[in-house]
Amino acid sequence: MSEDQNPSGDGKGQTRKQHIQSAESASRNPYQNPDGGITTTGHLWDDDLADFTNQPPRWWMLALTASAIWIVVYWLYYPSVPIPTSNTFFKGMGGWTAIKEEEADKSEVDTVRGKYEAKIKDLAPAAILADSDLTEYVKRSGKVLFGDNCAPCHGTNGVGTRDKEGLFAPVLDDDDWLYGGKIDDIYTTISGGRQGMMIAHKDTLSAQQIDDVAKYVKAMSNEGKGTADADPVVAAGKKVFMESDCTGCHGADAKGMQAMGSANLTDKVWRFDGSLKGIERTITYGVNSGDPKARIAVMPSFTAAGKLSDADIKKLAVYVYKFGGGQPDEPAAAPAAAPAVSAK
Ligand code: HEC
Ligand code: HEC
Repeated sequence: MSEDQNPSGDGKGQTRKQHIQSAESASRNPYQNPDGGITTTGHLWDDDLADFTNQPPRWWMLALTASAIWIVVYWLYYPSVPIPTSNTFFKGMGGWTAIKEEEADKSEVDTVRGKYEAKIKDLAPAAILADSDLTEYVKRSGKVLFGDNCAPCHGTNGVGTRDKEGLFAPVLDDDDWLYGGKIDDIYTTISGGRQGMMIAHKDTLSAQQIDDVAKYVKAMSNEGKGTADADPVVAAGKKVFMESDCTGCHGADAKGMQAMGSANLTDKVWRFDGSLKGIERTITYGVNSGDPKARIAVMPSFTAAGKLSDADIKKLAVYVYKFGGGQPDEPAAAPAAAPAVSAK
């Protein structure tokens, strides 16, 4: 609709100018609705659609003004505009930074943690384990500690990492332990480190003897020790096992000794390559024996490394115990025979 159109609907057919003139000459408000209605702005659309000149409601005006003020305050208080010339930005008058906010949040967390951490500092690992609140706390907070320090070798959650030589480091979430699964054993392992040693046999046993004894070990793992002992096919290997130095470290029952971390050779758990060739290699060159082809197995001492506090090591002991393989100090039922120890 053209601007020339009559804004009020009064005197149809007049131009806007004519309407205003005739209204003014009659001392009427040209914008007043002749029906006695509300004053309009004079704009008209579609013949009879006009803008009223009503004020917006007061609450609305107040809200509008308040938000305008809020924007200015907010803008001045917080870091806002970049200053292109100085390659920086307006820092805000409140001194707020993301780092400060994070630190404030952190100190809040520290207060909550502090309560637990103080207790852990003074308690032995077994006492921490006995306290269900503390154990729950350790289970939650130990994840990062384990992930940073242990997972590279032991795998996420202790599931182990493998290469073609076998496990890079023992699985920690089973109940099969080289050095013992009681809470104090685990603590001692982490704190002091471990390094199982098996001498090389390339100079003390013939290739034939090594082949024989490897077959006997494989048979014990596959069939169980009783069956292997009665198996004439591996009798020669059994003879080597009983008569050379194997029993000195692995025991006459071949179940290993926790004190030296010698492997249980009667189970199906293999720490190193468990194929016949792999077993022969372990026997020929040994473990940490100093032979250039020896298998290497070193659990570092975290106390010596100085990287972790004693409290951290205690937490990790409880954390590892709680993977599920931890063994109680007093076995509930009388153990049948020698404690089960085995390689991973
Ligand atoms: C550099 C690799 C490496 C790192 C890092 C490492 N470990 Fe080990 N860990 C080993 C090896 C290798 C062994 C086995 C030693 C052996 O066979 O004599 C082992 C053994 C263990 C054992 C004994 C397992 C058993 O069967 O008795 C525990 C428990 C253990 N580690 C816990 C940890 C914890 C907890 C951390 C982190 C604080 C950690 N390890 C960090 C390599 C590592
Ligand atoms: C000086 C002690 C010692 C002697 C002697 C010894 N072992 Fe071991 N053996 C160990 C230790 C310790 C380990 C575990 C190494 C580790 O995991 O850190 C081991 C590991 C093994 C493994 C690997 C187990 C696995 O899970 O991968 C085999 C196989 C084995 N020994 C067989 C023998 C045989 C057979 C003899 C006799 C010819 C023998 N050992 C003599 C200490 C010894």
